[in-house]
Amino acid sequence: MKKIAILTSGGDAPGMNAAIRSVARTALAKGIQVYGVSYGYKGLVEGDINEFDRFTVSEKIDKGGTFLRSARYPEFFDTEVQQVAAKQLKDRDISSLVVIGGDGSFKGAEALSQFGIQVIGIPGTIDNDLDYTDYSIGFDTAVNTVVEAIDKLRDTSSSHQRCNIVEVMGRNCGDIAIRSAIATGAKYLASPETNYSREALVADLQQQFSDGIRYSIVVMTEHLDEPYELAKYVQYQTGIETRATILGHVQRGGSPTAFDRHLAVSFGRLAGELIIDGISNHIVGIKDGQFIHVPITEGLNAPVRDRQFDITTFNVTR
Ligand code: ADP
Ligand code: F6P
Repeated sequence: MKKIAILTSGGDAPGMNAAIRSVARTALAKGIQVYGVSYGYKGLVEGDINEFDRFTVSEKIDKGGTFLRSARYPEFFDTEVQQVAAKQLKDRDISSLVVIGGDGSFKGAEALSQFGIQVIGIPGTIDNDLDYTDYSIGFDTAVNTVVEAIDKLRDTSSSHQRCNIVEVMGRNCGDIAIRSAIATGAKYLASPETNYSREALVADLQQQFSDGIRYSIVVMTEHLDEPYELAKYVQYQTGIETRATILGHVQRGGSPTAFDRHLAVSFGRLAGELIIDGISNHIVGIKDGQFIHVPITEGLNAPVRDRQFDITTFNVTR
């Protein structure tokens, strides 16, 4: 009988549980034995691998986080460590592994395939930074979390006629910032895809307030600037009272939206079917409304998705 394992790796994302459940149910329905690996590649190397039954994944579809837990485990870059991980699976006659995570986790999966493990990846990251797919699990929930927070910040910013600089996650990808800036009618967007500079921000805010706007929300992707220091700088340069809010890890939690659950369940089913069909070294995704799968290397080298329409939409509608 075929045996498969599932793990979650890298930063967690709402919807990972729904994806684990879907892979497990798809496989169990075909009489395949399913194992959960705890703590990502770390747990794999340490042999933290436990068999699922049908009820292991019950009551998980609505839960944020990952019940398999996750980890960042830099030791996994080492080929000898990868070999130990492959042996842990082979010792249990587990031939296949589904990895739910981001690009780093997919590279780990690709490495494992060199040791004869059948691997399939499911994109799970709030950053939405995988260009081969239009969406990854968790992004929609994170954007909704940001939108809810900014709606609240708008209330207080408007009462006090302030500027509020809101830092959101995304690593090197501006999708969370871009989507939430559009959805909240923010007044300024700073993301890796826009040419951010302090000077341009200050000039824009000065223009906004001289045009009669009484408060402003600036949405900014992390790592572009230091928000608290920037708030002081903006206030000093413009005379506009300015505050900074770093939304941080709140963006990684919470019950997944219906969109993310649907994505997770669909990706999970596809991943399970690919395993059954003997396909390896592929990652699943969604492109132009179609569920797809591509070789890991092709997916990781996909051309950068065009974000210009969204950025222009923000600029003309803000
Ligand atoms: P994400 O999967 O969200 O991009 P990371 O980049 O932190 O998150 O990667 C998650 C884990 O995947 C790493 O901690 C490491 O264990 C493994 N990993 C990342 N890159 C590689 C690589 N090039 N080779 C082998 N394993 C990797
Ligand atoms: O990749 C997801 C993410 O939340 C990024 O947006 C962020 O830069 C990073 O992970 C934070 O990592 P950690 O949880 O290790 O602090």
